[in-house]
Order: sequence, then C-alpha cells, then structure tokens
Amino acid sequence: MKEVLEAIRNRRSTRNFLSEQIKDSELNAILESGVYAPSATNKQPWHFTVVQNKDLIDRLNHSFKEFAKKSDNDYLRKFGSNEKFHVFYNSPTVILVSGEIGNKYASIDCAAAVENMLIAGEALGIGSCWIGFIEYLLNSEEGKEFIKELKIPEGFRQIHAVALGYKKNNLTNAPARRENTITYIK
Ligand SMILES: Cc1cc2nc3c(=O)[nH]c(=O)nc-3n(C[C@H](O)[C@H](O)[C@H](O)COP(=O)(O)O)c2cc1C
Repeated sequence: MKEVLEAIRNRRSTRNFLSEQIKDSELNAILESGVYAPSATNKQPWHFTVVQNKDLIDRLNHSFKEFAKKSDNDYLRKFGSNEKFHVFYNSPTVILVSGEIGNKYASIDCAAAVENMLIAGEALGIGSCWIGFIEYLLNSEEGKEFIKELKIPEGFRQIHAVALGYKKNNLTNAPARRENTITYIK
C-alpha cells in the first residue's frame, strides 16, 4: 500500500530521457496497468500503439513542429519554433492512446489508462510524460498519413500519448499544488 502511495506522490513528468530502451517486461507491465484501468460501463474503448522506432518518433516530432509553427495558437507556435523542443523529449518509447469514436467517455477512460501507466512506470523506476500536444497533429489533415503508418484502428481517434524511458536525472520537486481544492463535509 505504502509503495502505491509513494509512486503516486513521487511521479513527476520526466522531460529528460536516456536513449537506452526500456525492457519488454517493463513495457508489458506498464501496458497491463493501462488495460486494467476502469472504464465507463466497462467498454474499454481504448487502443494502445507502442512506437519504439526512433525514425518515426523523430518524424512525428518534426511534423508536429511544422504544424505548430503555422498554428494561430500562440502557445503552440512558441513550441513549434523552439529548436531544442522535441514533442516526446527524445524518449525511446512512445505509447499513443486512441479512443473509440462515438463513445462519450472514451477520452476519460483513456485518461484513466494513461494515469495508471504513469504510476506503473514510476513504480518500475521509469520516467514518463503525458503528451497531449501530438493530438493536434494526428487529428489534422497533415496527420492522416501518420494514422495509417501507425495502424490506428478504423473507428478510433488519437487522444493521449505517453513518452517513456529511463530518467536522465531524478528530479522529484513537484510543481506547487493549488490550495483550497478540497471540501470536507462530515
Ligand atoms: C491532459 C494532459 C496533457 C498533457 N500534455 C503535455 C504535453 O503535451 N507536453 C508536456 O510536456 N506535458 C504535458 N502534460 C504534463 C503536465 O504539464 C504536467 O503533468 C503538469 O505540469 C504537472 O507536473 P507533474 O506531472 O510533474 O506533476 C500533460 C498533462 C495532462 C494531464
């Protein structure tokens, strides 16, 4: 019990990864944690696409940045034109989580799966970062070829992604949590 609480408390977004690939046994444990997430009426409306091909990860990054540069969203444009920025922070593994189109709760269920995977990663000493940005590219016209290459199943759309890898450093300081977010009624 204590270990679960520690993994939740210690997990931080990792944005600095070693290039060494994680073990298949670790990857499988993380994926298993994803598929055991709760889902509304147990529909399990998710699909997990594991990408461990550096060339594809880098092409996704490149296309995302080109897309972001042209965006009318100031925040996104800033990342697109930052030479040092990599949308997956050069992680050796990326898990794309797509959700069933038409399922009202797909995005929430997929988020539950992502959170389980992040915590499982932490428990195994593996760094992770939740990546929302890539959805902008993959759900755009420019993303259509990638959807084919990534074999995202028919009837599913890209929702969340997770960058995974061993941590380059062990930063444990959590961004400050907002106060007064809990009400107790006894
Ligand atoms: C829905 C969602 C999307 C996110 N997308 C990104 C992203 O694209 N890139 C990134 O660096 N972090 C992303 N994050 C991570 C947050 O920035 C991070 O969780 C937050 O700053 C708190 O830091 P912590 O994870 O260390 O507690 C995302 C988090 C969530 C929940």
